[in-house]
Amino acid sequence: MFFGVVPNSFIPHPSSLRADEETGKSGFASRRAIWQNRRVSETRTIQAADDEMQEAVSAACELLQQGEIVALPTETVYGLAADAFNPEAVAKVFAAKERPSFDPLIVHIASRGDLKSVAIIPEEILPTVNQLTAAFWPGPLTIILPKHPDVPDIVTSGLPTVAVRQSAHPIFRAVNKALGRPIAAPSANRFGRISPTSASAVSKELDGRIPLIVDAGACAEGVESTIISIEPREGKKPIFKLHRAGPVTKEQLQDYGKVEKAREVSNEAPQAPGQLASHYAPRTPLILLEKPEDFEPEEGKRYGLLSYRGEDDSPYIDLHDWEMVESLSPGSGKLAEAAIRLFFVMRLMDEAGLDAIIAEPVSETGLGVAIMDRLRRASTRA
Ligand code: TXA
Ligand code: MG
Repeated sequence: MFFGVVPNSFIPHPSSLRADEETGKSGFASRRAIWQNRRVSETRTIQAADDEMQEAVSAACELLQQGEIVALPTETVYGLAADAFNPEAVAKVFAAKERPSFDPLIVHIASRGDLKSVAIIPEEILPTVNQLTAAFWPGPLTIILPKHPDVPDIVTSGLPTVAVRQSAHPIFRAVNKALGRPIAAPSANRFGRISPTSASAVSKELDGRIPLIVDAGACAEGVESTIISIEPREGKKPIFKLHRAGPVTKEQLQDYGKVEKAREVSNEAPQAPGQLASHYAPRTPLILLEKPEDFEPEEGKRYGLLSYRGEDDSPYIDLHDWEMVESLSPGSGKLAEAAIRLFFVMRLMDEAGLDAIIAEPVSETGLGVAIMDRLRRASTRA
């Protein structure tokens, strides 16, 4: 197995990526082999509580300037940051995550004014982009736009588009501003695994692969940003293609355009990067049980219940003598609380040595759409 920094020559040329995608052949296994994991001598975690914030920001910034990668908190999940204009640094992100090179990264900018340095915005969608960024930035909305030529192809997996957002997290914003360059950052987990919402979760995923984790406690949103692209329409509000449901809800976006789901593709032959069906998977099989009566336990197996409201008010509680019950929003059933706890609870249950996790559905409105999306993806076995 190859350990260490990915050599330049391993960075795939974007034209070869596109050619592969045109054939429609899998390429998954062979391309995946390009990005082996990576070793560093030590992974340091530094606290970024109020009085230590400046120290943490400086340490992170220094490493990013040297072309290193750093785990940073955002308001959604922890991200694995690299200088977006440094292709060798970005290659380290792919290596540390074992992420296939066809899966592009989100670029984070420090201010709305920086958008023009990473994207070229067509006239016909400029008013919409201005409305959306005024309403939701800084915050958990990612917009797919035509890419600026300065953004290296490795960031966008050779696509002509770039996904951009401005994080609302004070630490991330401060690092972004101090670096003075856009930051490419996927979630700080190994590819296909549960996204981290705490520094300890990042450590479990990437210890020994990255030099620094900045610990600023739990993430405020708990699920990754909403991702959209914009299709203008003559004389009508634009269409927003929803590539990933997230904290900015369909209901909120509907004030500015018509929201439609973007097409999804299988894991085997992704036509469009960024649309893999299976993701966020615990190692323990997770079964999303839409109806309690569908539960068919096997003799001698240990099952845990991932419940929405928990003991007080769940039609699933009395179904079985559960080995473990964890609830997303104990008692009150609040979707915002459920989103914050989702990945934490999934990780906790994954570590409990169960034979299967049985997940209850949540109502599919507002943030519930993002939660159900993550539960469905977690229950898809690749
Ligand atoms: O909240 C978030 O978005 C977090 C924090 C760290 O910002 N980031 C995150 O990144 O979730 P990641 O890499 O785990 O997920 C980004 C998704 C991927 O599914 C990727 O394929 C998709 O965005 N994506 C990126 N660029 C794209 C593009 N140009 N077109 C379509 N999808 C794209
Ligand atoms: Mg991710």
